Amino acid sequence: MVVSLSGKVALVTGGSAGLGAAVARRLAGEGCAVAINYASSADRARALADEIAAEHGVRTLVLCGDVASEAVCRDLVERTVAELGRLDLVVSNAGWTRIVNFADLDGVTEHDFDKCYALNVKSHFWLFRAAKPHLASGDEEFGGSFLVTSSVAGLKPAGSSIPYAITKSAAVHLVKVLAKAHGPNIRVNAICPSLLLTEWGKSFGPERIKAVTASLPLKRLPSLDDAADAFISTARNTSITGSIIVVDSGMAVV
Ligand SMILES: NC(=O)c1ccc[n+]([C@@H]2O[C@H](COP(=O)([O-])OP(=O)(O)OC[C@H]3O[C@@H](n4cnc5c(N)ncnc54)[C@H](OP(=O)(O)O)[C@@H]3O)[C@@H](O)[C@H]2O)c1
Repeated sequence: MVVSLSGKVALVTGGSAGLGAAVARRLAGEGCAVAINYASSADRARALADEIAAEHGVRTLVLCGDVASEAVCRDLVERTVAELGRLDLVVSNAGWTRIVNFADLDGVTEHDFDKCYALNVKSHFWLFRAAKPHLASGDEEFGGSFLVTSSVAGLKPAGSSIPYAITKSAAVHLVKVLAKAHGPNIRVNAICPSLLLTEWGKSFGPERIKAVTASLPLKRLPSLDDAADAFISTARNTSITGSIIVVDSGMAVV
C-alpha cells in the first residue's frame, strides 16, 4: 500500500543542509511536520525550518545535538514527541568522514575509525532504540518508518576513506538486522546515494567530481532531489523493509 505522509511527524538528523535538508523539504511538501536536527549552524537550521513552514504550512522544530551521543539521540526523540505530539518517521541521516585515499594506510587514524563508527553506525542504533516505542505505536496503516542514509561506498570499495566505507557497509547490515527483528509495525530501510553535490560532496574537489561523473553509466550525478525522492517513496510504501535503495546513476555496477 502507498500511504500519505500528510499529518505525520518526522525527525531528520543532519537535516539543516545537504541531503537532510532536501529530504526535510520534500517531507514538508507531503504535509509532514518536521523536526530538523543540526550540529553547529543554528541560523541555517532556523532559516530552513521557517522557510518550509511558510511554504508548506507544516509545523517545524529545530533541534541542536551531536548524534554521536546516545543521550542526545534520546533527547532528540523525546523533544520531537513533546513538541510535535508523535513520531512516525525517522531519517537517520547525519554521518561523518575524513577524506583519506584507500592506498594511504598511514593516513588513517584511530580517531577516524572511532568517529566513523560513532556517527555512521552507532547513531542509527541509538536513534532506533529511542524511537522504537513511538514508531511501533504508529497508526495501523502507516506504522513507523526508520530510514538510514548509507552510501554506495558501503556496497562497493569506493568512497572517501576506509573507515567511512566499512562503517557505511555496517549501516547496511544494521538496517537488515533491525528490519528482521522489529516488524510488523516498523519498516527499516537504507538509502545509498553516490556522490551528491552537497557541501560534503563538493569537498572532493572539481577533478574528482569530474572523474566520478565520467565513470557513471548515466554520465551525471544524482540530483539531491532524486536522492530525497527515494526517502519519500520508501517511507510511503508499506511493503518495503530491510531494503537497500541505491540512487547512484549506476555507480554500484561499474
Ligand atoms: N554528499 C555525498 O556525496 C554523499 C554521498 C553518499 C552518502 N552521503 C551521506 O549523506 C549524509 C548527509 O551528507 P551531506 O552530504 O548532506 O552532508 P552536509 O551537506 O555536509 O550536511 C551535513 C548536515 O549534518 C549536520 N551534522 C553534521 N555533523 C552532525 C552530527 N554529529 N550530529 C548531527 N548533525 C550533524 C550538519 O549540521 P551543521 O551544519 O549544523 O553542522 C548538516 O545539517 C551523510 O550520512 C553522508 O554519509 C553523502
